[in-house]
Formats: sequence, structure tokens, C-alpha cells
Amino acid sequence: MDIHSLVRIQNSFIRHSLIDMIAFVLNNQTIETNAPSGTALLDFIRKDRQLKGAKLVCKEGECGACSVLVGERRGGEMFYQSMTSCITPLVNVQGKHVVTIEGLNMEELSPVQKAMVDAYGTQCGFCTPGFVVSLTGYLLSSETVSLEGITAAMDGNICRCTGYKGIERAAELIINQVKADMPKLSIPSLVAQNYIPAYFADIPKRLAAIKTEAAAHNGSVKLGGGTDLYVQRPWTMYETEALPVYDRASMNQIEIEDGVCTFGAALTMGDLYRSELFKSALPDSDYIFKLLSSTQIRNMATIGGNLVNASPIGDFTILLLALDSQIILEKAGKRRTLALKDFYKGYKQIDLKEGEILEQIQFKVPTASSKFHFEKVSQRKYFDIASVNFASTFDLKNDRIQAAHLAVGGVGPIPTYLHKTAAFLQGKAITETTIREAIVCLNEEISPISDARGSAEYKRLLARQLFIAQFMAVKTEELVLEEIVG
Ligand SMILES: Cc1cc2nc3c(=O)[nH]c(=O)nc-3n(C[C@H](O)[C@H](O)[C@H](O)COP(=O)(O)OP(=O)(O)OC[C@H]3O[C@@H](n4cnc5c(N)ncnc54)[C@H](O)[C@@H]3O)c2cc1C
Ligand code: FES
Ligand code: FES
Repeated sequence: MDIHSLVRIQNSFIRHSLIDMIAFVLNNQTIETNAPSGTALLDFIRKDRQLKGAKLVCKEGECGACSVLVGERRGGEMFYQSMTSCITPLVNVQGKHVVTIEGLNMEELSPVQKAMVDAYGTQCGFCTPGFVVSLTGYLLSSETVSLEGITAAMDGNICRCTGYKGIERAAELIINQVKADMPKLSIPSLVAQNYIPAYFADIPKRLAAIKTEAAAHNGSVKLGGGTDLYVQRPWTMYETEALPVYDRASMNQIEIEDGVCTFGAALTMGDLYRSELFKSALPDSDYIFKLLSSTQIRNMATIGGNLVNASPIGDFTILLLALDSQIILEKAGKRRTLALKDFYKGYKQIDLKEGEILEQIQFKVPTASSKFHFEKVSQRKYFDIASVNFASTFDLKNDRIQAAHLAVGGVGPIPTYLHKTAAFLQGKAITETTIREAIVCLNEEISPISDARGSAEYKRLLARQLFIAQFMAVKTEELVLEEIVG
């Protein structure tokens, strides 16, 4: 380990963690700390390291002002993702490279920083470090660039005063500049063109020197990405012994065999979004992924966390229920398989035994005769939790429904699998009359309540509309809406 860059952080926190030492590279410095494993990364960066570029605003992952890049070695290459450090547990960056805005600064402004200045993309400047980090993260994670891609990379960053036009112009300037500078992006080419500092080239060696196996995971709270835990109970988490569940190979793999997709619960929404294999199993998935939170949150949020969280409106939960998924639960080497629809027992009550971990999820890959569809309505189209979400799979033969799996969120205390409506549809042809009658079943099975996401009546109406949309997706031109809704 480079003695000049090693920074030993004295224990300025009360020590609760059973993990001996968390080690990672922060910008250009190797850090070893015995801070509690549940410390929020942003607190560590700002309070302990006195790096104030990443800003504290919402502390709920919603504004992107605290964005940092987290890099790790994947398949021999460095792989960087943007994350919101306010809800990133310190233990989740063990053995990784964390980059704050300070770690992107060089003697001169980088072309990304310069574009923000030249295009008047900043006023008060509070959001600017987060935008620069996300924009640079996009360049670090892409081989070629596009305006659409760079715009999407900023979907988790909010600016309260510039009005976005300046930022959009800056993004356009960056794309034009990058295209002129580099035919193909890579860390060496980004270093050579002064988009990132030269120390990035040494990071793989520095990470290889960190002993990741030192972590003894004996904590009490199972931890995925922390995007739910750090919003629901941040103060407990800061002082908690966290038990990261993402280390095992079985929880990080995707395979499709004999028409069944099996994937690890530790994979994030972002991992699945980037996996062509997974997307080959899920029709329309590019469209679906864009509806799920933001780039930063997708990079952190695990599917296991989405299911165990048991939110009645979890998007992946609804989607996997409609795929009639099975889940594999593990404890001390013993496994049991359960239908996801039997996992939810009551509000936030699940069939998960003490010490059990959700290890994998399985579903039959939809075929030409089984149609899967997902719909989500939220107050904002992107980067918002659903008011109501709905998904379905129809197994069809000779235009009749052989089997239906229907799931709807936001209309009851648990993510709702519509047993009765699915049974009603079995053997029926998709006609206006069938749908009209099925809506009666649907209405009996749901029990929405009024809350911040809409009144009970509104959600009931949404559920009906999204239900109709499932049939429209299968028989686009033949169904007459007026004959269904009267
Ligand atoms: C800004 C923001 C936007 C969001 N937008 C969306 C959205 O659009 N759609 C959506 O569905 N959700 C959204 N969420 C909610 C959240 O991100 C997801 O539910 C996410 O998938 C939770 O995963 P996690 O890994 O972060 O869970 P964590 O917070 O780490 O854990 C959640 C729960 O699951 C348990 N747990 C985690 N993994 C396992 C495991 N393998 N075995 C057993 N228990 C486990 C934990 O103990 C905890 O009880 C959003 C959250 C934020 C902060
Ligand atoms: S402070 Fe708003 S996302 Fe972290
Ligand atoms: S420049 Fe002020 S919040 Fe974006």
C-alpha cells in the first residue's frame, strides 16, 4: 500500500461494527476506517474527510446533490456508477473507488465543468457538483455517447434554479466535444484528453491491494443497497451493524435455462437494465426500466430489497408477481422455494424466517404465446414512486386465455396478486364483455385508501384503466374502449 496516500482515519465515531476495517479509495487516497459499517457515505465524506463538494439536501436519494461515483473491478475492467451518497452505507463501498467532485478537479476545468460554465448551466451552484459527477460518470461508463444517453444519466439530478435549459445545452456541448476528442471512450482516453485526472489509471492496482476478505459480516440488519432502509430509518442505520447480503456468487448471477430465468437477489435494477440476457427474458424492458426511479437509485436498489421491503407499490414486486415468480430463500445452507404470491401475508408482513435470506428469483420466460405487460402511473412520469402499477401475463391459445397472472400495486396493504380475477379470466376469449365482467372481479379484490398519491376513488379508476391497458397491449386494434367502459 502506498504509504503517502494511506490515510488512517482515527475512530471519530462510536464503534458498533463487527467489520474490522472498511477500506476503499476515496478520490486519490486509500482510506482505512473503523467507522460503523452503517455510516452514511455522505456523512463520512463531509464530516470525517471534510470534503464539502457533495451536498446534503434531501438525504433521501431524491435530488442527486450528493452524487458520487463508485467504481469497482468487474471482469478485469474498472466499472463506475453514480450513486447518491446520502443513502449509501459505508460498508457498501468496501474495496471500491469513491469519486467526489474534488476527485474530478484538475488544474484546469475539465471539458464537462467548462461546458457547464460556457452554457450557463449553473446559478447558485448547489446542484452543480452532482450534475458534473453524473455527467462524468456517463462518460466513464460508456464506449460511445449520445445526447439521449447523457440526458438520461442526469435523471436523478434536480436543479432548483437554473431551469435545465442551460444544463441541457451543456450536455450537448459535452457530446459534441467528446465526439471530436475521442472515437471510443476509455479511462486512458479520458485521462489523455483531461476529462479525468491521471490518478484514475492507477486505481485498479490500488484496489487490488485492499483486502476485501477482511470483512466479517455478522451484523443484524440485512442490507442490500440501503435505498429503503436509509430513507425509512436512517438514524438506526447509522449506528447499526449491517449485514451486507450481496457478496455471494449465487446472488449476483443471471441464467436462462430451459425457458426459466434465474437471477440473484443482490442484483440491482441497474445490473438488470445493463444485462442483455435479462432483458431478453423480459419484453419491453428498456421502457420499464426507465420508469424505475433514477440512474443513481437503480445503481443501488437490489431486487431482493424491493421484494423484502414489501411495499404495496414496489415496481419489481408487481412485475415479478405477474410473471408468477418463485423465490429461493436460504438459511445456513438450507433452501426453500416459495411462490412470490405466497410471500406477502399482511402489511409489511412476509414469510421470511429469522436469519433467512432471499437468495434468488425465478420466472418462466414469456414466449410468443404468453404476453407480459407492465404499466405504471405516478405523479411524475419518471423518477417517482407509483400511484398505481399493474402487470400481467396472459398465456394464450386460439385467442383464449389459458392462464392469467395479474398483479396490481397501490390498491391494498400488500402488493396484490389478483387470484379471483385471474381465475375468472381462465378459458375466456378477450372481448369487451369479458373485460367488463372482469372489472367487476377486480373491483372486489382491491381496497385502495386515500393518501398522498391520490384518493381511493382515483386509485380505483387508475387500476381499472391500467387493467384495460393490459388487454389493449395484447389486442391493440380490435378492442373498442367505449364498449368496455360504457
Ligand atoms: C429516491 C428513491 C426512488 C425510488 N423509486 C422507486 C421506484 O421507482 N420503484 C420502486 O419499486 N422502488 C423505488 N424506490 C424504493 C427502493 O429503492 C426499492 O424498494 C429498492 O429495490 C430497495 O432495495 P435496496 O437494496 O436498496 O433495499 P434495502 O434498503 O437494502 O433493504 C430493504 C429491506 O430488504 C431487506 N433485504 C434486502 N435484501 C435482502 C435479501 N437478499 N434477503 C433478505 N432481506 C433483504 C432489508 O433488511 C430491508 O428490510 C425508491 C427509493 C428511493 C430512495
Ligand atoms: S442529498 Fe438529495 S439525493 Fe442525497
Ligand atoms: S444551480 Fe441552483 S440548484 Fe441548480
